Amino acid sequence: MTTDTLAAEKGVPGNAYKADHARRYDDTVRRVIPGYDALHSMTGVLLRDAIPDDGRILVVGAGTGSELLALGTMGPQWRFTACDPASDMLAVARDRLAGQPVEARTTLHACITDDLPAAESGFDAATCLLVMHFLPDDGSKLALLKSIAARLKPGAPLVLADMHEDPASERWQRILRAWAGWQVSNGIDPEMVERGLQHVRRSVHFVPRARMEALFDEAGFEPSMDFWHAFQFGAFLTRRKQEA
Ligand SMILES: C[S@@+](CC[C@H](N)C(=O)[O-])C[C@H]1O[C@@H](n2cnc3c(N)ncnc32)[C@H](O)[C@@H]1O
Repeated sequence: MTTDTLAAEKGVPGNAYKADHARRYDDTVRRVIPGYDALHSMTGVLLRDAIPDDGRILVVGAGTGSELLALGTMGPQWRFTACDPASDMLAVARDRLAGQPVEARTTLHACITDDLPAAESGFDAATCLLVMHFLPDDGSKLALLKSIAARLKPGAPLVLADMHEDPASERWQRILRAWAGWQVSNGIDPEMVERGLQHVRRSVHFVPRARMEALFDEAGFEPSMDFWHAFQFGAFLTRRKQEA
């Protein structure tokens, strides 16, 4: 059984990122997500303030490895355990990391957090960037957060970025329209932008900001601090509660 089949059986969208999409991802993402690289460098600055120079970081949903490359440069002694159920995305990550200094400090696993080997725990920090919005709020978002909390030291930081908004609100409609306009202004074909919007409306499980906070709390995290926002995208710094 392939990792993608396993992921699909567990209800995670690991096989949504097939080879073609994985290869195009790095070219497209910067024209689709305002401040994508800044998100990674801001994450690095926040973690530099919070964890030891030789800290161990869990990267959940590593994708094509962009945050590993950014964080690997910002923390030249940090060590990384990265997981992602989409083997095609990890294959691109492997190619991009090859020969880079961070390669020797990184272990990649083609799985979700829950399926990491038991020894992969006691992390000083975790990142979960642009992942959780793909999971429905039927216990799946909570399970993801709990699986991260279980592998962090008490008090350890989690940086999480997600699309979030109240999908019943007029603001949600307006913000998605504005986001579409921004993509067109970056040279993306309007038809592709429209298809992307339809995909987001279908596949992204938006929850309001207050629900994000309730999920953090229930999963064993402290109240979060927003540090980045662009259209419907936002990023948060939280910490595992001392007494999880
Ligand atoms: C939009 S990409 C983000 C990748 C990377 N973090 C970045 O900043 O570019 C989302 C990634 O999350 C992965 N993913 C989806 N569900 C996941 C889960 N339950 N656990 C870990 N990764 C997951 C997908 O396979 C995909 O590679």
